[in-house]
Parts: sequence; C-alpha cells; structure tokens
Amino acid sequence: MRTDARHGPASRVARSSSRRSGLHVRVCGGLKKDFEGLKKDDNKELAVGPSSVPFQSFFSPTKPRTWSHGIARLTALLTLAACNGTTSYLDATGSAGRSEATLGRWLTATACAVVLLVCVAIVAGMARRRGERDEGTGRREVKSGLGWIYVGTAVTVAVLLVAYAGTMATLAAASRPPYTPPLVMDVIAHQWWWEIRYSDPARPELGFTTANEVHLPVGVPVRVRLHSADVIHSFWLPQIAGKTDVIPGQTNETWVEAERPGTSRGMCGEYCGLQHAEMALAVTAEPRVAFDRWAQARRAEAAVPNDGVASAGAHVFARSCGVCHAVAGTMALGRVGPDLTHIASRPTIGAGALENTPANLARWIHDAPSVKEGVRMPAMPLDAAELRAVVAYLETLR
Ligand code: CUA
Repeated sequence: MRTDARHGPASRVARSSSRRSGLHVRVCGGLKKDFEGLKKDDNKELAVGPSSVPFQSFFSPTKPRTWSHGIARLTALLTLAACNGTTSYLDATGSAGRSEATLGRWLTATACAVVLLVCVAIVAGMARRRGERDEGTGRREVKSGLGWIYVGTAVTVAVLLVAYAGTMATLAAASRPPYTPPLVMDVIAHQWWWEIRYSDPARPELGFTTANEVHLPVGVPVRVRLHSADVIHSFWLPQIAGKTDVIPGQTNETWVEAERPGTSRGMCGEYCGLQHAEMALAVTAEPRVAFDRWAQARRAEAAVPNDGVASAGAHVFARSCGVCHAVAGTMALGRVGPDLTHIASRPTIGAGALENTPANLARWIHDAPSVKEGVRMPAMPLDAAELRAVVAYLETLR
C-alpha cells in the first residue's frame, strides 16, 4: 500500500506486518501515520519523479497546490499540534523529560488557579453590597480594602516562592545524571542534519559514527557533547530531555536517559535556516541488549557486494559520492555529508525528508535540492543505469 502525506496526513494507514524499527508519528484519535507502516515498494521499478514518491514530508517547503489543499494541510497541522504525539514533551519517556513535564503541568495548573482566583475575586468585589449614599453629599461610604491587598500580596509571594523552589529543584535534578554515564555521544549539528559519534571512554575502539538517528539503551544515562559545524542549532529529543543549544566554537554538554523503550522524533529547537524544520532525528530507546546488538552492527565495515549491479554501484559510488560521504572499509572517505556505512538500516533519508525506500533514495540522489530546498547535496548527473546501480549498492549497506 502506498500513502502520500499530501493526500491527507491523517489518513488511516494500515500497519504493515513486516515492521522495521522506525519513526512513528502518533495522531489524535488513534489515527496513525506510521513512517515504517508505509509499505515499501521494494520491487518496484526505480522511477524518478513525483509518481515515485510514496511519502512526502509533512513539513516540506513545497507550496500547496490549491486553497482547499492548503486549508486541509493547515487543519492537519493544527490537529497534529494539539495532539499528544511522540514529539510531545508532555508524553515524556526520559528521566529529565519526565520531571520537566511534571513541573510544566504543575506550573500550568498553578497559573490557571491564580487566574481563576483573580476572576472570582473581581466578580465577588463587583457583587459586594455598596455602602449607603449620604443624604447630604450624595456620596457613598467606601470601606477600606487594605486588608485584601495584604492578603493578595501574601498569596502572590507564597505562590511565586513555591513555583521558584519547584522550578529550581527540578532543574537542578535534571542538570546532572544519577551517575557518570558509561556512554558518550558526540553530536555534530550541520545545516541540516545530525552527525552522531558514539564512544565508550573506557574502550575507544568501540566508537562508531552514524547520522540522523539516535539509539538509547533504556535506563542508562548517556553523556551528550554538542558541537556545531556551522550555525547555532539546538539539540532536542522532546520526550527524553529538554533542549540544549549547539553553538559553533563551543562544546555544550547535556545528558539523556530513556526510561522506557519506544521510538520518537528528535529535532532542532533553534531556527537555523531554510530547512530547520527538516532536521529530524529518529530516536529509538531499547533494552540494553538490543542497543548493544545495534551498536555492534554499526561498528562493522561495509560488506563487499556480491551481486553484479550492486558492485557496479559501488564503483559509481566511490567515483561520484565518496568525496562527500564515507563508507567504512571502502575508499569513500568523505566527511562533508553523512556517513553512509549503514544507510539501508536507517528509517529516513535527508534527516527526515523522505522515508528510506529504494525509490526515494533514487529520487534523492537524482535531485536532492528538489526534495529539500537548500540542501548541500547537489543533483547527481548519473544516468538511469548508474542511478539504479548506486541504489542497489546502498541497499546492501545494512
Ligand atoms: Cu538546526 Cu534548526
């Protein structure tokens, strides 16, 4: 089954039984748009062009074609914004995120209670019986309300002090991990994608690099060091922890810890240019064993393809793509774009721009700027056979 977000992002999408790990976007009322649920047309002829796009990013900069289409898209956006989806920090699954969400709820409730109290006080003041009019002067006798001003001031100070103490206590607790994290993640923000380097301080040989995906072992704090390759970004895994700015020339540190398994979407929380909204991270929190298995697979070098088309693709790749992209174990050593050693196992391409399918890969390689305007990756001048071969090669990089 193919589904196009342009035909209604809230459309029901049948859940594929052959599910792979990937991004979910939960939509209100049980409607689900499931990135991985979009059934892949793996055997379909690789066509390049709009008809070959099973999934168009919801936030893509393409203009709506009609007014009704635009309104439908806006309505869907507002519906999504109002939902408690997997990008919602109120639906927290991380330890820092949970305490911050609880604080947010308490502060909101307090603010609502204060507004309600003030409204009640105003109405009560208006309804209060006024003093008798003086026969001679025609003036009313007004009683002093000074006592209420003291009460109001005392209540205000008390509420502010409690809110301040709660905020400080929560932020202090969220600022440091419960123990020294055994795992370090260096996150390098680029316009508009994320480079992620995992390392284990005790065993440097276990390091590996990936892009636009974060895997977290449940119950294990991870130290995050943030670097920027260009402008100011902000690293944000809404369900796991709050934002931290990513500033050029400075290494900011934070930590994240997932409390339960699941997938969510991370994002950039600071406007950083044209594709700020399309700088997504596929976040997977999983049990330690599954995480270790994933990490072990990431450390492996790319296997040499044994099928003819894929091997031809490896040559085309080394010649045309290897200057910008790296594939471990090959001559492709580029560091400009994402490391592609295990690209086939990632749920999206272009940092959330497209679902990772062969057809979308072909479309992306053929003309990335038409998918994600402003992207550094240029349109590649490959003929159809070369394009098919490169895609076949990339599909072997699991
Ligand atoms: Cu990077 Cu906004």
